[in-house]
Amino acid sequence: MNTILVTGGAGFIGSNFVKYYLNKYPSDTLINLDDLTYAGNLENLKDIENNANYHFIKGSICDKELLRKIFKTEIKTTLEAPNLVAHFAAESHVDRSIKDSSPFIQTNVVGTQILLDTVREFWSTTSKKRNCFLHVSTDEVYGSLGKTGLFTENNQIKPNSPYSASKASSDLLVRAYYKTFNLPVITTRCSNNYGPYQFPEKLIPLIINNIINKKPLPIYGQGLNIRDWLFVLDHCAALDTAIKQGKFGEVYNIGGNNEWTNIDIVKLICKIMDEKLGNKTSSTQLINYVTDRPGHDLRYAIDATKIKNELGWEPEHTFEKGIVATIDWYLENQVWLQEVTSGEYQKYYNKHYL
Ligand code: NAD
Ligand code: TYD
Repeated sequence: MNTILVTGGAGFIGSNFVKYYLNKYPSDTLINLDDLTYAGNLENLKDIENNANYHFIKGSICDKELLRKIFKTEIKTTLEAPNLVAHFAAESHVDRSIKDSSPFIQTNVVGTQILLDTVREFWSTTSKKRNCFLHVSTDEVYGSLGKTGLFTENNQIKPNSPYSASKASSDLLVRAYYKTFNLPVITTRCSNNYGPYQFPEKLIPLIINNIINKKPLPIYGQGLNIRDWLFVLDHCAALDTAIKQGKFGEVYNIGGNNEWTNIDIVKLICKIMDEKLGNKTSSTQLINYVTDRPGHDLRYAIDATKIKNELGWEPEHTFEKGIVATIDWYLENQVWLQEVTSGEYQKYYNKHYL
């Protein structure tokens, strides 16, 4: 039986992963350490909050003493020290990193270093259980592609935004802890995720929320930038495969082989929602081309051959079904949308990053 420490488990991907993991491994123990920033929400975990194998700790990955307490089993004596770590906690939105990169450096770089050092202090090479530190990273560390080609694990790291630079820095620390200390680490680099519980500042839930509220749909630049979209539960399955079967020191790309220009994806969401809501006028009339994001990466697209060939992972959800399921979820969870976009967030939203 494993004890897995999940960091950032109250965010979008983290909360999907926590539920996926507890459902798949009902005998394992899962500790969720999350600082509950604007992006973390315990509502996302309501379904499993009473699960006896689930334990929530509010706190930051930058809090070295708290981390040491978790590994020394001082928080709850009944809990064993984690033998697996799935590290999601991060500041994750590019636009915010353009406005202020400090929290990105603090959590994504310094926080990762503190977590790595804690794990190094407590994991011994003679452990009977598998130890694995899974670092959940992003394809954005590779920078931007031109019109053709795909990112492979051998691509150079060339980040263009403060967000991707902070993630690339943490990737390099993870690599260094493998080379220097032989820490059992694995890094995954995934393309853009979509699905339930994504904070509606990212493209897909923002567009859905704005169509519901008949607000303008902001398209940066000409809307011709391309992203490779993957359903969040496919990402969770890939992460589970990597943490359980991956080879230490390796990087695995994860992607959906599903490229869309932003404008096409926005038009598709308009079409599906207009049908569902019975709108008489097309929501595409809400499309509003706005000033481009500075340093906006043109195209991301993943070559996921390595994880397919070596670990047997492939996406299971088609985009056709995944996007409809996602839209349905937001339509059914409008209270969630209202709650997460009220208060502090409103101040940010009304003040564009430029
Ligand atoms: P998110 O912003 O929705 O969630 C981040 C979570 O981390 C929140 O619950 C937040 O409260 C928590 N957190 C932030 N700072 C913390 C700290 N100092 N200590 C503890 N918890 C803290 O992010 P997400 O979209 O779920 O992304 C999760 C991870 O996956 C990130 O590392 C991100 O870089 C990576 N990733 C995301 C995508 C994507 O499309 N969203 C794609 C590839 C990789
Ligand atoms: P986003 O969801 O922020 O993810 P990332 O920048 O990490 O890929 O943005 C996805 C794409 O959508 C990106 O090319 C920027 C664009 N975009 C808009 O055109 N309008 C918006 O309001 C947002 C949030 C993003």
